[in-house]
Amino acid sequence: MITEQARIKIEKVSTSKLHNLAEEDLQFGKVFTDHMFVADYIDGEWTNFKITPYQNLSMSPATSFIHYGQSIFEGLKAHTGQDGKVYLFRPQANIKRMAMSATRMCMPPFPEDLFLEALKELLSLDKAWMPKKDGSSMYIRPFMFGTDEYLGVKASDNYRFMIILSPSGSYYKNPVKVKIETNFTRAVAGGTGYAKFAGNYAGSMYPAKLAAEEGYQQLIWTDGKYHRNIEESGTMNLMLVIDGVLVTPKLNDTILKGVTRDSILTIVRDWGVTVEERTISVEEIVKALEAKTLEEAFGVGTAATIAQISTIGYEGKDYELPNVADRKISGKLSKYLEDYKRARVQDKYHFLEVIE
Ligand code: COI
Repeated sequence: MITEQARIKIEKVSTSKLHNLAEEDLQFGKVFTDHMFVADYIDGEWTNFKITPYQNLSMSPATSFIHYGQSIFEGLKAHTGQDGKVYLFRPQANIKRMAMSATRMCMPPFPEDLFLEALKELLSLDKAWMPKKDGSSMYIRPFMFGTDEYLGVKASDNYRFMIILSPSGSYYKNPVKVKIETNFTRAVAGGTGYAKFAGNYAGSMYPAKLAAEEGYQQLIWTDGKYHRNIEESGTMNLMLVIDGVLVTPKLNDTILKGVTRDSILTIVRDWGVTVEERTISVEEIVKALEAKTLEEAFGVGTAATIAQISTIGYEGKDYELPNVADRKISGKLSKYLEDYKRARVQDKYHFLEVIE
């Protein structure tokens, strides 16, 4: 176990880039703070824990993850609270999920206590970069990849773990038009869908491009075998409100165990909303769209928090959903989550971790 603070060596920038930050005009994931965290897995153990100036990487063209894709990541956020303090939202959940992704991809999990320490140390060092406006946040990207210089197909012996910080604005500016995908597949039973594995995202890009050519910003993925049941939406978990009941696909190995998903289910159950985590067929959705009992549809994920869906396309027909302004559950949730992350309401579910 690695617990000593002193194990993280810190090399600070000589000149900060902070003066370049245009907080009024923040996009998602485009600018990065002054520092980054780096560690290496060598000879069977994690070592070289350091915070350095944010900089490019230099590596051999034979580096294994470039060829065979042993690459995983996480996404979590920190917000400026109304008291001016910095709050991390559920870091332990992301730390645990990254360990799960690592295990699936045959990679060594990064030690949990050091992970949290690195997050806190890095955020504390780059605190001046924290965006303050509602809708903005510090998007935190931990990631890990295989670093062996070897072209044989095998799990890498060596790895790099890093954390970078990106002061970010909202992911989607407007509600999205999505298409139910019944040809391509995001994940299959026994595959890697539940891991935050880079290849899951790479595989989704071509179907998303084809859908974009038809005017859809995202896809609703269906099961890989029969394309009968819905799974996720784009890079997010999917939630629907049908006749006042919040329904969402139940977790299995083709669905990412979303931290936002779990947070929302915890909150709405507490509000007394009926929740069903179950199989949802495309047929059921189309019937609900036709009967106009589908009241709300939205993607939930760390980057966008709640991405409202305005239109669902299926087999060439577009179904318009009720106005976003009339969506009671997701509307209330969006506001509550923003207030929660900024410590404007009580931390009832112990989701917040303050950075001293
Ligand atoms: C999220 O919703 O947080 C995502 O997974 C999107 C991210 C890959 C940008």
